Amino acid sequence: MDKTVLITGGAGFIGSHVVRLFVNKYPEYRIVNLDALTYAGNLENLQDIENAPNYTFVKADITDAAAMNKLFADYAFDGVIHLAAESHVDRSITNPNAFLLTNIMGTANLLNAARESWKGSYEGKRFYHVSTDEVYGSLGETGFFLETTPYDPQSPYSASKASSDHIVRAYGNTYGLPFVISNCSNNYGPNQFPEKLIPLFINNIRSSKPLPVYGDGKYTRDWLYVIDHARAIDDVYHKGCNAETYNIGGFNEWQNIELVKLMCAEVDKQIGNEPGTADKLITYVKDRPGHDRRYAIDANKIKNELGWEPSVTFEQGLAKTIEWYLANEEWLNHVTSGDYQKYYESQYANS
Ligand code: NAD
Ligand code: DAU
Repeated sequence: MDKTVLITGGAGFIGSHVVRLFVNKYPEYRIVNLDALTYAGNLENLQDIENAPNYTFVKADITDAAAMNKLFADYAFDGVIHLAAESHVDRSITNPNAFLLTNIMGTANLLNAARESWKGSYEGKRFYHVSTDEVYGSLGETGFFLETTPYDPQSPYSASKASSDHIVRAYGNTYGLPFVISNCSNNYGPNQFPEKLIPLFINNIRSSKPLPVYGDGKYTRDWLYVIDHARAIDDVYHKGCNAETYNIGGFNEWQNIELVKLMCAEVDKQIGNEPGTADKLITYVKDRPGHDRRYAIDANKIKNELGWEPSVTFEQGLAKTIEWYLANEEWLNHVTSGDYQKYYESQYANS
């Protein structure tokens, strides 16, 4: 194998799409997927590539510094694409410490291990930190997040991601560690854990449960199909300039309530319900504390410099996503019942 690339968080939503893309597109790379398999990590996401000759799975926790040092010593990675994180804002409000530990200390452990492993020479090495647009805080009715927008994180989740971005840059500045960072907007698509807006609502419509819209429903997000994010990660990893930041977004803003209505209409259509059936499930509930009003990414830098842009429209991506969830009831049932957590034991019992 030409190169060994570590992908952290590869059993999660975005990570699994990145692992699949790299395993299939780069047979000359050895891809090591490191994941602690928290509630959000599901190896069933990767069943189609788990026996590929260039793929290895390692169950480990990035908060374990000794384990990270050993892993880097064992594999001598050329590059790291770091996605492992606690990622759900609502959970960060109820349990911030898990976010501080994994997102900040976990990232620091990986940086220390990379620095030690690469101390002879940084030639051909790269630490890629996958981050979020939430580090920039909240926008008013106009304007966009640029790469130069000052950080202003508002939730424990976004503060922990902002902190890890700063630490990555500090290692670049202080020790010369080669790095690149991207900050992406809201992803949607197959394999997203049904605690986030889109899969939660598809799942609830499927079982005729209320659709809990926070506050007035006029919060705005910029949505990107997950496979387009994975393509962007490939471009940033291979073509991005050292020590640069790239914003990634869908050029696709939606107010939550408008998005929910679009989703309801598409699910009704695909299930064969009377139009308007799912809309009746919409229920306004208490707002999320500290809820950011609007996110919108200016993704012109990655478009102009690396030639990346989204490949699917929102209408196509949403229809494909709904189709996937309706066709993969077993995946949804496993995730909601917790059965997917037994997969590791059965699949990796002898390894
Ligand atoms: P996810 O929650 O679906 O997956 C996270 C993965 O990390 C899981 O497989 C989990 O098991 C693993 N993990 C968590 N803690 C770990 C630990 N201590 N050690 C090892 N593995 C651990 O998250 P996602 O939505 O796929 O997000 C992936 C990354 O992309 C995160 O860094 C997130 O901040 C970032 N991001 C997400 C979005 C989005 O819309 N989902 C947008 C922009 C950026
Ligand atoms: O912007 C990128 C971020 O997008 C990522 O960094 C995060 O990891 C990811 O979780 C996502 O954060 P959000 O908080 O924007 O996503 P979520 O799906 O939780 O919520 C989207 C919007 O929908 C938000 O305004 C809150 C609202 N919402 C969410 C849920 C779960 C509801 O109204 N009801 C709900 O039940």
